[in-house]
Amino acid sequence: MDLRTAITQGSTLLEQGGIAVPRLTAEVLLAHAIGKERTYFYAHPEEELTELGWIHYGRYLHQRLKRMPTQYITKKQEFWGRDFLVTPDVLIPRPETEHLIETVLAECSKVQRLADIGTGSGAIAVTLALELKAEVFATDISMPALSIARINAGKYGSPVRFVNCDLCSVFDAESLDLVVSNPPYVPKNAHLEPEIRDFEPFLALFAGQNGLEIYPRLIEQAFRVLKPGGRFLAEMGIHQSDALQQMLTQGWIGVHTIADLVGIPRIISAQRTNV
Ligand SMILES: C[S@@+](CC[C@H](N)C(=O)[O-])C[C@H]1O[C@@H](n2cnc3c(N)ncnc32)[C@H](O)[C@@H]1O
Repeated sequence: MDLRTAITQGSTLLEQGGIAVPRLTAEVLLAHAIGKERTYFYAHPEEELTELGWIHYGRYLHQRLKRMPTQYITKKQEFWGRDFLVTPDVLIPRPETEHLIETVLAECSKVQRLADIGTGSGAIAVTLALELKAEVFATDISMPALSIARINAGKYGSPVRFVNCDLCSVFDAESLDLVVSNPPYVPKNAHLEPEIRDFEPFLALFAGQNGLEIYPRLIEQAFRVLKPGGRFLAEMGIHQSDALQQMLTQGWIGVHTIADLVGIPRIISAQRTNV
């Protein structure tokens, strides 16, 4: 069978299985199976698929039909222009988290010491260490996640120091210029697609009944470890902006939100007061 036919057949199978964007998914999985870029198919549609290619492609189609996210099959997700290794031990970095990077670069590019709390794949910490001249720390409560983050940092020669601890607990008082975080913020009973619910790490997603369970502790700890005048930036879920602004009253100034591309307030930014 040639590559064009393999794509058509895979795409039909995925469509029948209710998988979104079936053609693109079939192309991505076939490209991964034969170790080429997707553009290869346009130049060589009539090339025969090898037996080994078929075996891999068949397995990947089967996994996707079982709702495993494509990124866990191909083991990669692009973030800020770089490919990050992702496995089911880490959340797949989302495009909206790039607003966190954008905001850091726009509002606090001169910081010298920062920490990414709940680093997962390390996407935020590795990117900031490469984009800024700052000393970057990253924490996570999950050891398996930190192993993946270390691989990603190594891949790009990004000098992040990783620590296994609860939130910011490892840092000294008033020792950081910036705390960034994309913490778990999904309400326990939220309706989620099987790709997320059945495959992404529970620890990375859920934060109690209303999704707001982590923020009070995170904000309290961030206040302790930030220098006076230091900045706090966090990602939040839909409808969480008011609650977060309430949590950032005493001791914080300049509290504002940044919306994502569809207009949902997605990032909250605050400055620790000088006292
Ligand atoms: C939403 S994921 C974010 C991952 C990554 N920063 C990103 O944006 O793709 C949240 C991460 O926080 C970690 N986490 C959850 N509770 C934590 C805690 N108490 N202390 C430190 N990390 C925690 C999870 O293991 C997970 O890696």
